[in-house]
Parts: sequence; C-alpha cells; structure tokens
Amino acid sequence: MPFRTAPMLSLSLWPGVLVAEAPQLGVYIHWPFCAAICPYCDFNVHPVRDMQTADWRVGYFRALEHAQHLRAHGPVETVFFGGGTPSLMPPELIGDLLADIDRRWGLAADAEVSLEANPVSAPQSHLQALRAAGINRLSLGVQAFDAAALKFLGRTHSVAQARTAFEAAGGIFDRVSLDLIYARPGQTLAEWADELARALALAPAHMSLYQLTIEPDTPFFKRHAAGKFIMPDEALAADMYELTQASCAAAGLPAYEVSNHARAGHACRHNMASWRGGDYLGIGPGAHGRVSTGRGRVATRALAKPAAWLESLADGVDGADGMAETRLLGHEDVHAETVLLGLRLVEGVPMSRLEALGVPLDAGRIADLRAAGLLEANPQNLAVTQAGRLLLDRITDAVLAD
Ligand SMILES: C[S@@+](CC[C@H](N)C(=O)[O-])C[C@H]1O[C@@H](n2cnc3c(N)ncnc32)[C@H](O)[C@@H]1O
Repeated sequence: MPFRTAPMLSLSLWPGVLVAEAPQLGVYIHWPFCAAICPYCDFNVHPVRDMQTADWRVGYFRALEHAQHLRAHGPVETVFFGGGTPSLMPPELIGDLLADIDRRWGLAADAEVSLEANPVSAPQSHLQALRAAGINRLSLGVQAFDAAALKFLGRTHSVAQARTAFEAAGGIFDRVSLDLIYARPGQTLAEWADELARALALAPAHMSLYQLTIEPDTPFFKRHAAGKFIMPDEALAADMYELTQASCAAAGLPAYEVSNHARAGHACRHNMASWRGGDYLGIGPGAHGRVSTGRGRVATRALAKPAAWLESLADGVDGADGMAETRLLGHEDVHAETVLLGLRLVEGVPMSRLEALGVPLDAGRIADLRAAGLLEANPQNLAVTQAGRLLLDRITDAVLAD
C-alpha cells in the first residue's frame, strides 16, 4: 500500500520531545559499500572502488548528532550495522560509533549489536577485531551451499569459505545467523531440501531464508527479461516454502517472521522491535528511521547517494542533516505500517494495539479470512496462519477497511 506523502519538515521542529511510554530505541547504521555488487541486489549499494578517500567518520558522527535532536532519551537497546557489506568497515570506526552512541543515549549493558558480513571479508582475525569493537551478533551472507549457485548469484566466496567463516564466527560471537537464498532458477525441491539440511547440520540458532526475487533495475532483471533464465513457478516456490517451514520447525528453528527462523530466545531483537513499531534512528546513506515524538510518528530517509549524503553533513550549511526527507506520518500511514509489519510476524499484532491506534479494520473480511484458515482464530490477536503467509500482501490489503 503506498504511503501518503506529506510536506517536508525541518528537523528543528522536532526538538527531542519526551513522549509518554516511548518505544524501545534502536540504531540502524547503513554502510553502502561492497567489494562486488551481487546481480540480484537492489539495496543502496555501491562498489567499494567508488568510495572516495573522504572522511566517512565525519558523516556518521554528524548524523548521530542530528539524530539526537530527533530523539534525545535512551537507552539504545539494539544497534544494527547493515549494508552493503559493513564487515568492510574499519573496526575502529565501529568501536568509536558505539562509544558515541553510548555517550549520547546510553547503550544498554545487554544491548544486541549486529553486523552483516560477507564470508570474503570475514577472516578470523577480522571477526575478532569486530568482536573487540563491540559486535556481539553476526549475520553471515552464505546465500547457497552449492558452488554453481554461488557463481550464478555472483558471489565471490566458495562453500568451504562460508563454512569456515560460520564456524569461526561461532567461537567469537554470542549469536550467529546465516542468510540463504532459495527458489533459484533450476533448483528442484529435493535440491533445496538437501541444501537446507546441510545448513541445519551446522546447528545455527538463527537463519534468514529468502526466496529469490527479481528486483527492477538489477542485472538479474535484465537477464530474466531477456529469457536467460527461468524462475521457479508459483506452485514449486510454495512447496519450497512449506518444506522450509517443516524442516526448520523440526530442527527447533520455527519461523518467527515470514523469512526468519530462530531457536527460542534467538530472534533478532533489532528487527523484532522495528516490526513491532519500535523507534529506530536511521544513520548512513539511504537509511530509514522511525521516531515517536510528542507530535506523532516521524519518518526519516537519508540521502541515498553516498557522496551527496557526506557532502550535506560535512558542509552542514543551514543545518543540512543528510536527510532527503523528514516527515510526520499521517494516521493512515501509521495504520498501514502497523498492519503491514505486524502481519509479517508469526505472533501478529495484538487487537488491543490496533484499537489503541484506531486502525480501521474490515470485520467482515477478517471473519472470512479466519473461516478460510488464512488468519488465526484467536480474537485477541490479528495473525496470519502458515497457509496465509503465502498470500500476505493480499491479506494485508484486505484487513484494512477502505
Ligand atoms: C543487505 S544484504 C547483506 C549481504 C551481505 N553484504 C553479504 O554480502 O553477504 C541482506 C540479505 O538480503 C538477501 N537478499 C538481497 N537481495 C535479495 C533478492 N533479490 N532476493 C532474495 N534475497 C535477497 C540476501 O540473503 C542478503 O544476505
């Protein structure tokens, strides 16, 4: 559902207002550079060779300073370094950013501090340096346990390298997760079952399992449109999804979100908080943020081009804050976001929260979806069943009253 656009607001209108029962606070830090750009990826990513020798520290520290005007009170419970490939960030910079976050908001003693890593930039000594800098959870982009698939996905690491990185990470970090991409061209159900079994044999406590999606403006989009490869049909993709749910649940890692599986107590706290409507500050090129203020929920979106973001913050002319947009969300935006994000979670959204926000729900359609087994029957909660999760977009649109 498209979000209504509202006029741009100056940050100075949002002087860190204390709101009653402020939601939990997280910080998302986006590092937009990668050694090689994967042909399926449409995130805000740039080749590391384009990274000017400019002082990126200045940008990140100024962005944190501006963010403090938006939300002054902490503590910060979670920090997530995403990308791009933030395992390419100098560990000293990571350590200094965490120290700055601690100075500004206080970093909770048991804070979850995650970082996304590529197996290529994850030799043991580097992982140890990241741990010493304050990272306690590593999310490793393994993507496939098959050499030909890694090549197709444009990955520059081998299966053995990914395994070695995963095993090394297990001895260094409190928590380690791995990402895999399935429902790839030519992949059979039996092949995916075998690959998933190999992943589960490593006994991870958390896995993000994504179906390959062909995103506009990516090399894969052009190659797919030119008929260079054929994607699995909907029925096969659905079978793969069901197999994923059953195998992971049997191994003790049930889904807690559409694409995320974890052992009890191992869900990613940062992502959980944002799906539950928590506050997070978006730091870095293209990063999004959400903050509850006395005047409502504010959405921020940083300038996407790394050079433009850095220039805006380095100049600081007229209070330039590196943002492309800072706006107060309307009620409709907040309602849509709450349902959209909440229904991704297996736990769903408590009805009491939807009522408190005044979300207009279509009771008739909800009753029909419950009767059809696509929504859970519990009237205290709005939650999608496993069968419903395959039709999530349609269900999300249906439950919101027109
Ligand atoms: C921001 S990426 C970080 C990847 C990390 N830099 C690396 O090289 O491994 C997060 C994850 O999103 C997933 N992803 C990105 N684009 C995707 C697509 N088009 N289809 C499916 N999964 C995708 C990948 O599994 C990836 O690990």
